[in-house]
Amino acid sequence: MYINFWYVAAKSGDITFGAERPVKVQMLGQHFALWRDKKGQVQCISDTCSHRGGALGDGRIRGDCIECPYHGWTFSGAGDCVRLPSLGPDARIPDRTRVDAYPVQERYGLVHVFLGDLPAAERIPILPIPEYEDPAWRFINLTLEWKIDYKRAIENTIDPGHNEFTHPTHGFLGTKDDYRVEEIQLRDEPWGTGFINRMHAPTLAQRDMNEAAGRTGDKWIEGGAGTHGPHCSWTYIHPSDQAQMHGFAFHTPVHEQLDRIYVLFGRNFLADPKYDQTFENRAQFIAEQDRYVLEPVRPKLTPHDNNHEFMVPADKCVGRYRGYCRDWQERGWRIDVAKMRADYDRVAYAIPSPARREVKGWVLAPVPLCPRATAETAAKKARG
Ligand code: FES
Ligand SMILES: [Fe+2]
Repeated sequence: MYINFWYVAAKSGDITFGAERPVKVQMLGQHFALWRDKKGQVQCISDTCSHRGGALGDGRIRGDCIECPYHGWTFSGAGDCVRLPSLGPDARIPDRTRVDAYPVQERYGLVHVFLGDLPAAERIPILPIPEYEDPAWRFINLTLEWKIDYKRAIENTIDPGHNEFTHPTHGFLGTKDDYRVEEIQLRDEPWGTGFINRMHAPTLAQRDMNEAAGRTGDKWIEGGAGTHGPHCSWTYIHPSDQAQMHGFAFHTPVHEQLDRIYVLFGRNFLADPKYDQTFENRAQFIAEQDRYVLEPVRPKLTPHDNNHEFMVPADKCVGRYRGYCRDWQERGWRIDVAKMRADYDRVAYAIPSPARREVKGWVLAPVPLCPRATAETAAKKARG
C-alpha cells in the first residue's frame, strides 16, 4: 500500500448534507472521519483524537466541525482543535492538538481523498474519464469488496491471458487449438502502463447487446487495459467498431487483505437507462469470475518481483506494473505493512497530511514507510 495517491473513500451520496454524525472509513489500514460541512464540501480528517485516542467518527457534527465523543474536543475540517472544553472558554488551545486533514475532491459521484503529504502541484491527477461527461456515453457503477490484496486485482485486469479461461464470457475455455495471446505492445504513461491488443471472443450472451454491436458469431475484437497509480485501472472492450465499453476501477485498500472496488462501467451503445440492469448483471457476473480465482491466490500479498513466479510474455504488463510500484517505493511512498500490522494494538499511526510539510509538532506518529529499495541494497552491500 502506498501513500500519496487519491483514494475513493465513499460514494458522494454516502456523505449526506445535514447528517448528525460523521462517516467512519478505513483506508490503507488507517481510520478516517468524513462529513459534509455547511457549504456542502466533504471534509476528511484522521479518526484518532489527539487527546487520548477517541474515535472522532463516532462523535457528532457541530456546524462545520466534528466533536469527539469522549471529552468533546472539537475539530475543524482543517484538522485544528477549535474547542477544548476542559480548559474553559478562554484558554488558548495548543497547536499540537491538531490532527491530520486531507484534501478531498468529488468526481464521478465518488469522494476522492488524497492520502499523503505531497503539495498540490506534485500530486498525480485523479484517473481522467473524458467519456463520463460525454452525452453519447452511459455509465453504471458498482461497489465490490474482495478479500484480497488490491494489487492482485490490478494485475488481473492487465493480464490478457486470463480472459480465455477465467471468463467464458470473453474466451473459449481453451477449446481453440490455435489459441495464443497476441504480443503486447506496452504504452507507458507517467503514472501507469497499459496496452491495446486483439482477442478472439465468442458472441455476446445478450441478444440486445449483439444486435446493437452489430455482432454475429465469434470475432476478433479490440480490447485493452492499463493502470493509473498502484490502485486504479482502465479496461476497453470494443465488441465492434461502433460499440465500445470502457470500465474504470478505483481500488481502495481497506487494509492489506481487503479491497473495496468502486467500478464505473460505461458504454456508447444501448445508452438508454433501461439497459442499465443488463450491463450491471453482466459486470457483476464477470467480476464474480475474477473474485473466484483471486481470493485463493498465494501468497496473499502480491510479490514485488517475480523471483518465485514463472512469468511468460502474456504477463508483460504485470511485470511493468511492478516496476512502477518499485519506483513509488523508491520515492518513499510504500507503507511498511509488516511493521504497521505488528504495532496495531500498541501504536495509533496517521497517514501524513500535507500540513506536516509546513508545521512540526504532531501527536500521532506517521505510518512507517519502507526504506527505499536501492538505499537498502546499498546499505547491505556496505555491510558486506
Ligand atoms: S479522546 Fe477525544 S476529547 Fe478526549
Ligand atoms: Fe477478469
